Amino acid sequence: MYLDRLKNLKAYKTETTPCKVKLSSNESPFDLSDRLKNRIKEEIVKINFQRYPDPHAKELKEALSGFISDEEKIEITPENLVLGNGSDEIIHLLITVIGDLKKPVMYPVPTFPMYQVSSDVVGRSKAEFFLDDNFQLTEEGIEEGLNQNPDIVFFASPNNPTGNSFDRNLIMKVIEKGIFTVIDEAYIHFSDKESFLKEALEYDNVVVLRTMSKVGLASIRLGYLIAKKEVAGQIDKARLPFNITYPTQVIGKVVLTEGKEELKNQIKAVKEERERVIKEISKIPDVKVYPSDANFFLMKTPDGNKTHQELIKKGVLTRNMSHLPKMENCIRVSVGKKEENDEFIKAIKEIFT
Ligand SMILES: Cc1ncc(COP(=O)(O)O)c(C=O)c1O
Repeated sequence: MYLDRLKNLKAYKTETTPCKVKLSSNESPFDLSDRLKNRIKEEIVKINFQRYPDPHAKELKEALSGFISDEEKIEITPENLVLGNGSDEIIHLLITVIGDLKKPVMYPVPTFPMYQVSSDVVGRSKAEFFLDDNFQLTEEGIEEGLNQNPDIVFFASPNNPTGNSFDRNLIMKVIEKGIFTVIDEAYIHFSDKESFLKEALEYDNVVVLRTMSKVGLASIRLGYLIAKKEVAGQIDKARLPFNITYPTQVIGKVVLTEGKEELKNQIKAVKEERERVIKEISKIPDVKVYPSDANFFLMKTPDGNKTHQELIKKGVLTRNMSHLPKMENCIRVSVGKKEENDEFIKAIKEIFT
C-alpha cells in the first residue's frame, strides 16, 4: 500500500550504451583545460571535508551573478538567484511549491520530460498541449492548456528535444495573464534569440532557469533560477539547505571567474560545428534535419529505430526520440568535437548511400 503511488511512476531514462562517440546527452564535448583543472586542484585541497558547505553558497553566487551580468549586460545580484543541484532540482522545487498543488502544471508536448516526471512524483495533474508540426507553439494549443486552469507553465526555449525557440509573443500572452511562467533557458547560450531575463527581473510571475550542464560542467550539477529579489527570496526558503556541495561551490567559483573566456570559446565552437554538421546532413535526401538554436539538433529518417541502432553499430550514440508523441522516427544528435562530428557524418552517409 505504501508503495502504490510509485508502482505507476516511470523513472527518467537516459541513454547509457557504451559507444566510442557519445552524442546523446547534450553535454559540452569539451573538458576543462589543464590550466583550470590545476586551479581547481589547488582550491579543492583547501576544503574542510568534514564541514557542511555554505548553505547560501555566497561566494559562488557572487561569481555566478558576475558571470551573468557580464554575459548579458544586465545587472544580476546574488539575491536574484536560487541555486539547484542541476536545474532538474529547481524544476522539481517549483512544481512542489508554486501555486495551488491541486491545479495542473502546463507544458507543451514534446518537451523536456522532467516537467512530466516531477508532476507525476508530486502527484500534480498536467495540462499538456501539442506543438505544431514545426514544433512551434500555437494560439489554439496554448488556449487548450490554459482552459485546464494551470497555476504554473513551463516553456523550454530553445526546446529540448526539438531544438527550436518558441514564439516570444505567444509566451508573453501567457505571462500577461499573470500565470507563474518558467522560461527554461538551458540552451540559451547557443541561441541568438532574445532571452527572458529582462521579464524575469520585471514581472513577479516570471522566472528564468539556466544550467552549467550544457556549457562544460554537467559533472558538478549546478543549475540556477533568476528572478526578482522578492520572488527568488521566497523560493529559496523551500530549497534544501545544503543542496550545493562544497566541491561544486569551489569548482563553480573557479570556472565562473577564471574560465569565462574558455567557456565562451567553447560555446562559439559548438555553434559553428552545429551549422557545419546540419549543412552536411541536409544533403542526404532520406534525412530531414530541423533547424536548431541549441547544442544539438533533431533529424528524421525513414525508420528512426533502425537508424539509431545502425549508428550504435558504427560507434555513434545518439538519442532515439521515436517513442515520444509527435517524434516518430526522430533522433536527437548532440554537437560534438569536430572529429566526433566527422565520425557521425561518415556513419550516417554510409547508412543512407
Ligand atoms: C530543457 C532542459 N532543462 C533542464 C535540463 C536539466 O539540466 P540540469 O543538468 O541542470 O539538471 C535539461 C537537461 O537536459 C534540459 O534539456
